[in-house]
Amino acid sequence: MKAALIQTYGDIKNLVHQETVLPEISATQVLIKVHAAGVNPVDSYIRSGMFADTGTHTLPLTLGWDAAGTIDRIGSEVGADAVKGISDLKIGDEVFVFSAFAQNGSYAEYLAVEADLVVIKPKTLSFTESAAVPLAAVTAWQALFSEGKLQAGQRVLIHNTSGGVGGFAVQLAKAAGAYVIGTASAKNEQYVKGLGVDEFINYQTEKFEDQVDSVDLVFAAVGGDNIVERSLKVIKPGGHLISALDELDHGLAEEQQVKFERIWVQPNGQDLNEIRKLIDEGKVTVNLDSVFPLAEAQQAHARSESKRAVGKIVLEVIV
Ligand SMILES: NC(=O)c1ccc[n+]([C@@H]2O[C@H](COP(=O)([O-])OP(=O)(O)OC[C@H]3O[C@@H](n4cnc5c(N)ncnc54)[C@H](OP(=O)(O)O)[C@@H]3O)[C@@H](O)[C@H]2O)c1
Repeated sequence: MKAALIQTYGDIKNLVHQETVLPEISATQVLIKVHAAGVNPVDSYIRSGMFADTGTHTLPLTLGWDAAGTIDRIGSEVGADAVKGISDLKIGDEVFVFSAFAQNGSYAEYLAVEADLVVIKPKTLSFTESAAVPLAAVTAWQALFSEGKLQAGQRVLIHNTSGGVGGFAVQLAKAAGAYVIGTASAKNEQYVKGLGVDEFINYQTEKFEDQVDSVDLVFAAVGGDNIVERSLKVIKPGGHLISALDELDHGLAEEQQVKFERIWVQPNGQDLNEIRKLIDEGKVTVNLDSVFPLAEAQQAHARSESKRAVGKIVLEVIV
């Protein structure tokens, strides 16, 4: 099969589109015929070797951990008591998934993945749109709800709302009945207002800490500019501060009676299924920044690394 993979860690040129072996599935896995694969910033980090010392990956490595496609084969124990799948998967089912980082990824014609991570894709979305959802939306879900304990009626400040994670975070927080204050650059004001932010702050010309106070939760997706530490000033005692990137001295948060977590998203079929329901109810939409054929995975990484994507980047495997 064709895949976009790396033989060695390095820059964008190391990501090559070539023939590789069809993955085997274990008893608890399914094989997905991939129609489209989502691109996330972590794909570039892994490609560049940022996690090379962790022993997580073996080379050659097919990148990409978001996919949408159809079930092509099913492991012998899938559906048995040993595996509690989200649904009874059948050959031909149209699904989407955020797969485990430790395994070969989704920039390929086929993906082998644990069945309990696989969810029937939203009926209202194409395969290309569905592939844009899993990793970024599950990150936003775990930040807001699993860690941030967001509830209806609470006030949340979401930084970096024009990116993939931030865009889903705004919509999930609104769907949960929260009041959402969102930051982004001026050119993205109308876009993020369209996602539902109640108040917009241009972080390039305004200091958010002069505009906002008494929020229950702050979620920083991109970080930078010391925004995690600065966010402590705007959170109520007992509130939460969640960062997807930058770290913070926990002692500083404790002094302000704020609960701080630097999250690491975990693939989770239940979380993805909750997001799927909200998409099919029309409460969460997908904005595609750009779509490339699999053979142009290098260009997709260049777009992601520009840090100017508005919404999501997707590779189409079946065009
Ligand atoms: N910890 C985890 O488990 C986890 C999971 C997923 C993602 N992440 C991380 O979260 C971050 C966001 O991911 P993503 O998929 O949303 O990325 P993304 O889609 O590439 O984000 C792009 C957006 O970031 C904004 N941006 C770029 N540079 C910025 C800066 N210096 N200050 C403020 N905003 C800036 C831009 O918006 P404007 O042009 O409007 O500024 C752009 O629209 C990435 O660093 C990613 O690695 C972490």
